[in-house]
Amino acid sequence: MIQREDLMCDLGGNTAKLEPFHLVIYGASGDLTARKLVPALYNLFKEGRLPEIFNIVGFARRSKTDQQFRQEMKEGVQRFSRTGLDEKLWSEFQEHIFYQIGDFPQKDSYIALARKLESLPGASVIGQRHMHYLSTAPEFFALIAYNLKYAGLLNYPDVQRLVIEKPFGQDYQSAMELNTALQSCIDEKALYRIDHYLGKESVQNLLYFRFANAVYEPLWNRNYIDHVQITVSEAEGVGTRGGYYDKSGALRDMVQNHLLQLLTLTAMEPPASLDPERLRDEKVKVLRSIPSFTKEQLAENLVRAQYKGYLNEDRVAPDSKTETFVAIELMIDNWRWSGVPFYLRTGKALHHKASEIIIVFRRPPMVLFQQLCGPRLSRNTLRIRLQPDEGIHLTFNAKTPGRERIEPIDMDFRYNSEWLSYSPEAYERLLGDALAGDSTLFTRGDEVLEAWRVIDSIQKQWHDLPVRTYEVGSWGPAEAAAMIRREKNRWLLES
Ligand code: BG6
Repeated sequence: MIQREDLMCDLGGNTAKLEPFHLVIYGASGDLTARKLVPALYNLFKEGRLPEIFNIVGFARRSKTDQQFRQEMKEGVQRFSRTGLDEKLWSEFQEHIFYQIGDFPQKDSYIALARKLESLPGASVIGQRHMHYLSTAPEFFALIAYNLKYAGLLNYPDVQRLVIEKPFGQDYQSAMELNTALQSCIDEKALYRIDHYLGKESVQNLLYFRFANAVYEPLWNRNYIDHVQITVSEAEGVGTRGGYYDKSGALRDMVQNHLLQLLTLTAMEPPASLDPERLRDEKVKVLRSIPSFTKEQLAENLVRAQYKGYLNEDRVAPDSKTETFVAIELMIDNWRWSGVPFYLRTGKALHHKASEIIIVFRRPPMVLFQQLCGPRLSRNTLRIRLQPDEGIHLTFNAKTPGRERIEPIDMDFRYNSEWLSYSPEAYERLLGDALAGDSTLFTRGDEVLEAWRVIDSIQKQWHDLPVRTYEVGSWGPAEAAAMIRREKNRWLLES
């Protein structure tokens, strides 16, 4: 009998052992290092992906010994590693962790860092294989890159990498300036811009789902799809991040990056190959096909809102107009998608945390059942559940046994029932890929700019639009429901 294993096809990409490296984390005292980065590296070590020779160096302003830094990281792993902490393994792993005091604006700090790297164990084997991870406020990105360049730490783009995480600017202009500054220090191909959504297994699966199957692709277009809904809802409010969030808002914090990434993966054409550049080319093409909004279109196709009580949050301006919710209807003007609305929605303090892409298919032709039932005949929907409770659900119509009746039923696939503990953390995948030099899951410079073009056409023209309010724990303002109802649709994630 054929076993399931016989039908598996291992692409092998992200399991190979990595080459020896130095990884320097700038801003290593920040939350991200202990909460995400070091636990991810620890788990890569546990899985045998890290080579025998590697060094992780925390670079930050406070004075600290290696031992103190190791202890802090150990606590981080204890609290946040998905596999917990194994004392024996930790004692081996921590031998690879070091600390270097440094001040971002001080050139001398980078000269001292370069010297430190040369003195670390295995430095002669590691050579120039450096990865610089900027876990800092974005205003330091260009400064650190210049100083690394000055210290001769970015001269080998074939083996060196610079990793940054959003925000990549606040609008098109600033993003372009950032691109130019970084690209003057290191080649674009050595720049790794993280969008942590692309590290999620369920998001990566979108590509496999679409292009490793033959049944969906013929239907994946304007002839069969009525519209697409993409929702990323969060139950939490802004919490302790009021200071950052109030200057950003949902549009820049979530739509410019995560939601548009989900949209490009849903809408892109099959790439010519799995080469990272070909894949990213296709994503850019989708963004290019989204027309910039006119002011009139915004009034009709966009709702922004704030949850009640937001103005009382810590470090939020008392008269703030920052949106904590946004719903947008946009079009992709290309051959495949012309006339198909894409509804995007995201917000904080909503009913519950969930991210879903829902493809709603057209109704069958106006004969037979459709003639009898009209709009009561449910449309087929494909719900791609990205988090939590990841899975894919297809709804179709069937006959109720014993009755002349049609009812929609579900065909369910759940990650949890298929693969019990399937999920590595997004940062494991992303750090592993960046160290391996695979840029597939990272955002390219031109992609960032195209996304900003679309977002700028919103944020530069929406000042006169009202900021609605909504109840904490609801699904957002009534206007968002009204917007989608105009085309006789409704948000399906609410049901
Ligand atoms: C971040 C945003 O990029 O993504 C946060 O800055 C948001 O505001 C977070 O809460 C959501 O990520 P996830 O993985 O929890 O859906």
